[in-house]
Amino acid sequence: MSAPWTLCIDFGTAFSKAAVAPSTAWNAFTPATVRPLMLGGPGQGNSFLLDSAVFVDDDRVLFGSAAVARAEALSVQKRLALRSFKTLLSVSDLERALNTSLPRSLDPHRAFTQRDLIVLYLAYLSAAIGRACAADQVLSRGVTFDSRYAAPAWRSGDAAGSHELIVRLFAEGDAIRAALGSEILAPQGLPLQTALKAVAAARSADTAAAQLGLIYEATAAAAYTSIGLNSDASHIIVVDMGAGTTDIAAMARAGAHVYELAEARVTLKQAGDFVDRVIVNIALEASPELKTPQRQAELWRMMFRSMRDIKETLFLDGRVGFRFEGRLITVSLKDLERDDDFKEFIANLERAYEHGLAAVRDHAKREKARDLMAVAVGGGAFAPFIQKLIRRKPPNAGRIKVQPRPATPDWAHAPEFGGNLAPVFPQLAIAIGGALAPESMLALRAGASRPANVQTGNPPARD
Ligand SMILES: Nc1ncnc2c1ncn2[C@@H]1O[C@H](COP(=O)(O)OP(=O)(O)OP(=O)(O)O)[C@@H](O)[C@H]1O
Ligand SMILES: [Mg+2]
Repeated sequence: MSAPWTLCIDFGTAFSKAAVAPSTAWNAFTPATVRPLMLGGPGQGNSFLLDSAVFVDDDRVLFGSAAVARAEALSVQKRLALRSFKTLLSVSDLERALNTSLPRSLDPHRAFTQRDLIVLYLAYLSAAIGRACAADQVLSRGVTFDSRYAAPAWRSGDAAGSHELIVRLFAEGDAIRAALGSEILAPQGLPLQTALKAVAAARSADTAAAQLGLIYEATAAAAYTSIGLNSDASHIIVVDMGAGTTDIAAMARAGAHVYELAEARVTLKQAGDFVDRVIVNIALEASPELKTPQRQAELWRMMFRSMRDIKETLFLDGRVGFRFEGRLITVSLKDLERDDDFKEFIANLERAYEHGLAAVRDHAKREKARDLMAVAVGGGAFAPFIQKLIRRKPPNAGRIKVQPRPATPDWAHAPEFGGNLAPVFPQLAIAIGGALAPESMLALRAGASRPANVQTGNPPARD
């Protein structure tokens, strides 16, 4: 029997997010019952976003925004925070990749493997989820929930290959959190020895009872969008550009049933992080006077610190300017569009989207449907090249009309969210959709080791 509530963890490349919804929400949706979780805690940037970052200091291990801040303070000493570590989970030999040790810039003690730091981060994420639930008016009453996590459809549709290992990592994180309580949430992080002992103990923890379902990220994003589907549109295509991956998915509705068109699903391993690198390279090329690697590295660091704002201005105004050592450097969208790597990314993105669009078109034609909604989510939703995508019409569309739709629903502006939810709603859409989605949309159900949600365009059997 399923629990009364469902939790979806969106462990993101740049930010982790989570949401809880009543398990019955799919069939009886009331926006007010959805609980996006304030993972960030008080006074740390946007309260719904938790920086996916770990910093190994001289005698402590720091997490989240404290890790980012400490790494910035020590950047001249060539110290770095471990970031974007989620992308590691996509490699084919995950076990081996996890067990590699880290360079001194990330771990001066050479005491941790990548796996250790990921598990510690997952313990921090688990504690942040606990804190957010305790602070939530409804969830603090002690509700029980089924849990699932969102992941990209890595390796052409099979993110399930690493599922058991990833569940084990989450479970070890939970074991550490159970052992340490909220100590891990302290801004000063954990003492080094405490962290080392905790990961060692967690490795031998019994995690046989760990239950975690898997939902593909784009499926989750499309699930959130389709729950608002009214009777005039039966098909949806969603593109989610995050930091590490860009995911495309589509949904169709038949009567009361909404189901995924698995043949439309695509994951690209380029997204916000990739665009960041292209922008920095353009700025470096525009600054030939920065001859030494050291000064070039300083420009990198300066830009990475404010990359989100740089991109926001660039996407909004078509150009962005910033000062470095007294000189004004500007980067324009035209510069971006001239870059060969970027051109290749756009070509791949357009091909992937066209593929998804053609799949939805074919399905819509078969069903004699006319309306197709297109929605962009993720931190990159406002990029002009993403906004342009969702305005595309499929070739041979016949009578099918494409309606691009904003990602943020009215209810995200409700006063209880203090103005914090609406600006980041596109980033929260995956966690929220993942919490709302019925079991039939999961790539793997909790406790299962074989993919469900097989590749068909047919409505799933009713539960
Ligand atoms: N307003 C904005 N304008 C442009 N880019 C933005 C904006 N807000 C966030 N971003 C970028 O979006 C990315 C983060 O988005 P998101 O939280 O969806 O990613 P993620 O879920 O961590 O990554 P992934 O889903 O790939 O694992 C970063 O690259 C960030 O710089
Ligand atoms: Mg994401």
